[in-house]
Amino acid sequence: MAAKRKPARKPLPRVRSVAQLRSAIAKLRARGERIAFVPTMGALHDGHLSLVRLARKSAERVVASIFVNPLQFGPNEDFTRYPRPAARDRAMLASEGVDLLWEPEVKDIYPPGDLTRVNVEGLSNVLEGASRPGHYTGVCTVVARLLNAVQPDHLWLGQKDAQQALILERMAADLLMPVRIFRGPTVREEDGLARSSRNAYLSHAERQQAVALSQGLAAAWILLKEGERSAARLAAAIRREWDGYPLVREDYIAIVDPVTLAPLKTVRAEALVAVAAHVGPARLIDNFPWRGR
Ligand code: PAJ
Repeated sequence: MAAKRKPARKPLPRVRSVAQLRSAIAKLRARGERIAFVPTMGALHDGHLSLVRLARKSAERVVASIFVNPLQFGPNEDFTRYPRPAARDRAMLASEGVDLLWEPEVKDIYPPGDLTRVNVEGLSNVLEGASRPGHYTGVCTVVARLLNAVQPDHLWLGQKDAQQALILERMAADLLMPVRIFRGPTVREEDGLARSSRNAYLSHAERQQAVALSQGLAAAWILLKEGERSAARLAAAIRREWDGYPLVREDYIAIVDPVTLAPLKTVRAEALVAVAAHVGPARLIDNFPWRGR
């Protein structure tokens, strides 16, 4: 009997330097096909893969990148211990039918003598930016470079990082970048915990308590549904929920305008309800956009 054959899988072309990337992109473009781009820092999970699947539906070709960007990590953050399971990541992207994977090295993105930084004023120093000074300058600087190199038609970002998506949308609009930006919804574990590469840092007990973030948001969502409009009472409801989880330490609970990120006293048509907390060694974030009446 013939040996069982593995299902044929399209090979995943990989490039490292900007020159290699540009020539691979030129080939993809030769037939006039559009490119959707999914930038990541690797340690891939279903949240990333959901963006790849959405990207595949939005354009003929999908390009992904894996680059753990040193510029967006603070001096005491997890840059060195950030997980880098390269072989596993490549296999996952190959089985999703990604057309090209770009894995630059630090010197490819930040060539010697590099001096340019991209900063979106106003939106970058609040919420995540208040807790992580310089973080969004790092994010904008790397994404501007990735976009300039790939020159995609579409950019796919996750709602999980709502402030990041908002800031990058602002950057692309302000810098007249010819790219359409789309947001994919937050992908969650069965108990509601938003998928994150940083969930891997959690012990068993911490993992169980990490559900506090999405539970708190669910409590606020129910109150909003019932007609509650006071931001203070919504935040108090989240805090009450968190009281039952001693391993969860609040960083912020914010009810803000989804475009300006200014704190709201009263929720009107739209709001972003965003939270951040330390759970053991991990700092986790979650949010939901409210578009109600
Ligand atoms: P990373 O954390 O790897 O995330 C890559 C993309 O996946 C981001 O757009 C993020 O919002 C999205 N994502 C992460 N978890 C998700 C989830 N549970 N559901 C849906 N989408 C999710 O964000 C970054 O990398 C970096 O800052 C980057 C943009 C690549 C720049 O370095």
